Amino acid sequence: MALYSDVVMDHFKNPRNIGKPKKWDAVGQVGNAICGDVMYIYIKVDDNIISDIGFETMGCAAAIATSSMVTEIAMGKTLEVAENITREKVAENLKGLPPVKMHCSNLAADGIREAIKNYKEKVNKE
Ligand code: FES
Repeated sequence: MALYSDVVMDHFKNPRNIGKPKKWDAVGQVGNAICGDVMYIYIKVDDNIISDIGFETMGCAAAIATSSMVTEIAMGKTLEVAENITREKVAENLKGLPPVKMHCSNLAADGIREAIKNYKEKVNKE
């Protein structure tokens, strides 16, 4: 039986929103101390909406697929909706992840939350 769903494999082989957007306002950096994977999620925000998003991930196939999926889910959403994206939602949209890889979806959900936190900190400073 295949370890990954066809959706995971598609997002791993053809990641969406890969790299930094041309213009971005904030970045969330998250890492997993156990596996050593690192993820950066960049967001551009206009009128409280995520108008552009991108990611850089140094990690496993699931980390890349979950990064790609979380950017697809968050694009065009309000900050409030995006910061409530759960790892279960990411995994569900990928048609499931093996239990041993669920922490990778945690990284993606945490990454978008960190990016939004970074954005709010910047706005509050201004
Ligand atoms: Fe750690 Fe995938 S093995 S994020």
